[in-house]
Amino acid sequence: MTEPTTRQRESGSAHKRVFIQTFGCQMNEYDTAKMLELLGRERYTRVDRPEGADLILINTCAIREKPEHKVYSLLGRLEGLKRRHPETVIGVAGCVAQQDGEKILKRARNVDFVFGTDNLFDLPEMLARVAEGERFARTQWRPPKAPVENFIPPEAIPGLTPGSADAAAPAPVKAQLAIAKGCNNMCTFCVVPYTRGREVSREPDNILQEAAALVARGAKEIMLLGQNVNSYRAQGVDFVELLHRLNGLPGLERIRYTSPHPKDFNEPLARAHRDLPKLCEHLHLPFQSGSDRILRAMRRNHTIAEYLEKLAVARELVPGLALSTDIIVGFPGETEADFEATLNVIRNVRFDHLYAFKFSPRSITPAAELPGQVPEAVKAERLSRILALHQANAQAANDDMIGSRQEILVEGAHPRDPNSRMGRTRGHKSTKIPGCAAEPGALVTVEIVAARKFSLVGKVQGDG
Ligand code: SAH
Ligand code: SF4
Ligand code: F3S
Repeated sequence: MTEPTTRQRESGSAHKRVFIQTFGCQMNEYDTAKMLELLGRERYTRVDRPEGADLILINTCAIREKPEHKVYSLLGRLEGLKRRHPETVIGVAGCVAQQDGEKILKRARNVDFVFGTDNLFDLPEMLARVAEGERFARTQWRPPKAPVENFIPPEAIPGLTPGSADAAAPAPVKAQLAIAKGCNNMCTFCVVPYTRGREVSREPDNILQEAAALVARGAKEIMLLGQNVNSYRAQGVDFVELLHRLNGLPGLERIRYTSPHPKDFNEPLARAHRDLPKLCEHLHLPFQSGSDRILRAMRRNHTIAEYLEKLAVARELVPGLALSTDIIVGFPGETEADFEATLNVIRNVRFDHLYAFKFSPRSITPAAELPGQVPEAVKAERLSRILALHQANAQAANDDMIGSRQEILVEGAHPRDPNSRMGRTRGHKSTKIPGCAAEPGALVTVEIVAARKFSLVGKVQGDG
């Protein structure tokens, strides 16, 4: 044991340090922000290294093998730290925690507590139990009943609680806001229904309150989050109606959402992209595979023709609509012909952004047991063919934007060039603006003067 004196003295002091590492999707980032807000009230401040922290939290992702593996290797790396400083509390949160629960306590002796995706609002109480010497895994679901504040209590919304420590803390220019959680779709490859539970939509007033609080703290753009965001429905308000209400929020400049499911994408939603000035002209609509046979085996509940028809309607209604998608290659039983069908969709649609993944068998999902598992080498080869095709498409799509005028929401300085600003177009394209000194949160109009594969360069028009 080394250095016990300083640490013991500090553990009794008012301020404590938390290190939190987040894996996975924006929902996990959102949950991390909520945990930090709760901990802020317990007088924790965030530090960016695990060494010297009083509390280490790992917010985990189980979507594919790789992020799950990273969690266990991080826990392995923390073994020495825990040996040297047994008073450091280590907690595991998120989707691997929900999925593996007690197993994590058995596998990683240095972990003090594990809590699932529905338990994060109990964090202060759980820390008190750990301080009493308990070691536990808590993964019970909250009952999905009204009032849905149950799932994000109003006291967890900064700015709504008088005197809360973080009420005045600035919000990021681009803020995230969960409007629903869980998923009822049960796609055969996906852990989310098991790690996030049944679908529950949050009450619209509660969402609008949090949105208003975010805007009051400086947010200009809000990304609405849900695992199946466009099936949102609460108190008779559907997703399109919710977008209309948010569009009326003064001070909010941009609205985005992720991820919608194709089966719930409809013409009213496409029209909202045309009619609501704040809703950006960008649609992320995963199609996963271009083959109907594979889509059926994935249980996606739509055909590729239906998907393409929806895109055609959206493109017709919303000129300049940017499109992005998710694809899985090497799903069990995927033949070369099935894969060619996926390539054809990419060729024909010409997505602006594309996220492609090698199928990763997840032991708790039915697809892990399907016959016809595709060899790793074939998956890798298919993935590289997709990426090559997409890169050519992305360059062509960006080249087409040269000479156009675009609105950029400035996010900050360019990481390698302090005399330039970085931001995104309404179509979500990352854009560098040389010679611009606008503050983060400013909207500037630029003319696109150069295009790279994954970014644009813009010249300020007027007095940006
Ligand atoms: N709810 C969203 C997807 C969320 S998960 C939707 O239905 O579209 C994000 C992406 O991860 C998915 O779109 C899929 O492409 C990928 N993914 C999910 N499970 C996977 C697995 N087992 N192997 C590989 N990729 C997977
Ligand atoms: Fe997973 Fe998305 Fe399917 Fe839900 S809709 S099961 S989150 S892939
Ligand atoms: Fe990962 Fe859970 Fe998100 S599995 S992708 S962190 S919902």
